[in-house]
Amino acid sequence: MSTKILCVAGARPNFMKIAPLLRVLRRNAAFDTKLVHTGQHYDAKLSKVFFEDLKIPRPDIELEVGSGSHAQQTAEIIKRFEPVLQQEQPQAVLVVGDVNSTIGCALVTSKFTLDKPFSSRLGERRRPVMIHVEAGLRSFDWDMPEEINRILTDSISDLLFVSDPAGMENLRKEGVAESRYFFVGNVMIDTLIAAKDQAMRSGILEEIGVKEKGYALLTLHRPSNVDDLDALRALLATMDEVARDQPVVFPVHPRTRTRLDAAGVALDPSRWKLTDPIGYLDFLKLTASAKVVLTDSGGIQEETTVLGVPCITLRENTERPVTITEGTNVLAGTKREAILAAYRDLGARAALPARTPRFWDGKSAERIDEILTGVFEGG
Ligand code: UD1
Repeated sequence: MSTKILCVAGARPNFMKIAPLLRVLRRNAAFDTKLVHTGQHYDAKLSKVFFEDLKIPRPDIELEVGSGSHAQQTAEIIKRFEPVLQQEQPQAVLVVGDVNSTIGCALVTSKFTLDKPFSSRLGERRRPVMIHVEAGLRSFDWDMPEEINRILTDSISDLLFVSDPAGMENLRKEGVAESRYFFVGNVMIDTLIAAKDQAMRSGILEEIGVKEKGYALLTLHRPSNVDDLDALRALLATMDEVARDQPVVFPVHPRTRTRLDAAGVALDPSRWKLTDPIGYLDFLKLTASAKVVLTDSGGIQEETTVLGVPCITLRENTERPVTITEGTNVLAGTKREAILAAYRDLGARAALPARTPRFWDGKSAERIDEILTGVFEGG
């Protein structure tokens, strides 16, 4: 009998992580894999375009939770996922990343009792095996909602798949049993490697009106940077100094769009190129062709590392330190002087050869598939 695995995705950064996992798990006859989309992100530009670009099959189950406060959104995910477990009776649930959909579905799974027991290398049990991909990351910043999601999801998961060497060290220090966690590399980089050739043929540069290596790319959506209007105004004033040096391309996240309107910031269109959120392939092309990327995203720190593009991270901390020690990333924080110093220093850094972190080689999903096969065939 095949093992039923429910794979969960809900928000934009989940889609590029779930895509390679679905591809390899669906090829494996030992698994019956279903995709659950929570609907945390529902705009076509944050969700549908990624399904098309990454050829992700249509979700088998859609929870349509939508937006809300953290409590409302997480509660809806929890309420709507429990009947799915009841109906599907899966032996495993796999979640990725650190968004509210990740912790919501993990929490339901960890307290769920199946109608029938099943056996695996983890013994006989009536709870689905809880699997977390991109485990062990820690920013040590408890003001960040994703940090809470990461810590809680890891603590209630049975199997932890780790992308950053620091994640292994974090889990060891937290006293997690060694048998529970595995260094497999980065599934998001599996997607990047698979999509790169196609992405490089995108016409997005012409569409926006910028030249290869002739612009800076900016993304901003962390609540700590955009929710406080004074902080947002100050950050954009600093970015405007960059824009006086070279055009700044700025795809604007819906959260940020609302805050920009509220802050009444006017960005001079002769130096700024504002766009709606951009699909995966076009964004990959924009990243690879940028002279520099300035961002508060987590995943973009990793993508720039692999692409060898300098990245200035507009945060005080990162849960992905390998992008600094072996990649192209610098943590600049949000203060004007530090950001501009990092910006001026770009030439010096471009001379340093970028090294690709271990196992960021396009085969991470295959490693996970192999480990899961071993866990479940041992029943
Ligand atoms: C979520 C994740 C964050 C991730 C980000 C990537 C959490 C806690 N946060 O943040 O880790 O980096 O996604 O984008 O899970 N909205 C739309 N359309 C949508 C979805 C949202 O307009 O399809 C608007 C709504 O006004 C919503 C706001 O964006 O209130 C924020 O959305 P939400 O899902 O709560 O968090 P993100 O900021 O997107």
